[in-house]
Amino acid sequence: MNTLAIIGAQWGDEGKGKITDLLGMNSDLVVRFQGGNNAGHTIIVGDNKIVLHQIPSGILHENCISVVAHGVVFEPEAFLEEMKMVQKHILVTPERLKISLNATVITRYHKLLDSIREGKSANKIGTTGKGIGPAYEDKVARRAIKVKDLFCKETLTNKLTIALEEKMFLFEHYYKTEVPTLEEEVERLFEYGKQFKEFVCDTFSYVDDALTANKNVLFEGAQGVLLDIDYGSYPYVTSSSTGAAGIFTGAGVASGIVEEKLGIVKAYTTRVGEGPMPTEISEEIGDRIQKIGNEFGATTGRRRRCGWLDLPILKYSVKASSLTSIALTKVDILSGLEELKVCYAYEIDGKEFDCAYPGLDLAKATPLYKSFKPFNDKFDKENTYTDELQSYINLIEESLGIPIGILAFGPERSQIHFRKNYFQ
Ligand code: GDP
Ligand code: IMO
Ligand code: MG
Repeated sequence: MNTLAIIGAQWGDEGKGKITDLLGMNSDLVVRFQGGNNAGHTIIVGDNKIVLHQIPSGILHENCISVVAHGVVFEPEAFLEEMKMVQKHILVTPERLKISLNATVITRYHKLLDSIREGKSANKIGTTGKGIGPAYEDKVARRAIKVKDLFCKETLTNKLTIALEEKMFLFEHYYKTEVPTLEEEVERLFEYGKQFKEFVCDTFSYVDDALTANKNVLFEGAQGVLLDIDYGSYPYVTSSSTGAAGIFTGAGVASGIVEEKLGIVKAYTTRVGEGPMPTEISEEIGDRIQKIGNEFGATTGRRRRCGWLDLPILKYSVKASSLTSIALTKVDILSGLEELKVCYAYEIDGKEFDCAYPGLDLAKATPLYKSFKPFNDKFDKENTYTDELQSYINLIEESLGIPIGILAFGPERSQIHFRKNYFQ
């Protein structure tokens, strides 16, 4: 097996960073293919907590090359900040980190639009405020600034003039807010561009060559299937293809096939921002899980909403991204709770649904639960669990029809059981 994808199977924050870091150890390449600095991927190494937003989570391994592919929306200022942070832990040279010349640039106007809209609109999404949606809008509208445009002031001025035609009118007359001038933004982006120019290249060919040479290539997804622009709980989603389909448009794969698609599943459900979440717990136990699980957003610090495991959305994610196995994370957080439930189906308008589908109105869903005997496991013996945890694991594997290949029971690298071989 040479190609593996890490896909969030819920609403993000499933532990993709931790699993990518672990499997990155044996990867030649780790490739981010969508999203931007809305992502917050946490890696714990000893006393160090490293939260990555745009830099791929394989970066801490010397022999692994990190690629920011063309499907990503790229924020230059935040990237340079992140580089400074990462360089404290490991040397990052242009040989070890490649940024696509065709990635879409997030400008200050995108960030401003994102936050103004969130404050003003009746349809608040609860975005991360990083300008992700507005930047993807410009890409689809064919007026985006690409990374390659940052290195020539004239090109940058021309492209930004086009990108700002309508926006300046909106800022002035509709939102009535002051914004940086075009000249200021050109100057700022040009100066930043100079600082990372040596990392920029044609990543499509780079990834393609690595695949042809049978290198181990890991594609690191951001967010999760339920935040996907097409498969997610629209409109409360992000603006990219967060599932396996995003790899083909956002990075390029020579054979069109990714052999292993590893869905990352938190042992319960969390969500940040607005939008329906059928298994959200309003009782005290929800607060307990939030506290024990330290469920705060890695990018915005917002409190994550917590709920029981939701099988209808997981079954759906398995289908939508043709997942081949699961990494079940944060199992330790459920250990020792006095109550344990799993949602096996929803009731909507008198009908039962055991699997979600695009457009299913999750806001109307009443979750149907199966109660479990709580488990209390110490995870001290490789792949040996109490009968109670084993029956939780069995239910997930039987319902989803794919194996749990990894079980994580803590944030550190060693707190993991492999139940299947991935990259050797
Ligand atoms: P990502 O966005 O999917 O990479 O996930 P985040 O980094 O946003 O959130 C996952 C959080 O859970 C981080 O703080 C991780 O350090 C932590 N984490 C990951 N796996 C485990 C686990 O198995 N147990 C516990 N207790 N924490 C974990
Ligand atoms: P990782 O990769 C959790 C959510 C936001 C909001 C919606 C749209 O760390 O799992 P956006 O800023 O993308 O336009 O916000 O998507 N969101 C995430 N939630 N984890 C993430 O990334 C997220 N990235 C975006 O909270 O509801
Ligand atoms: Mg996160």
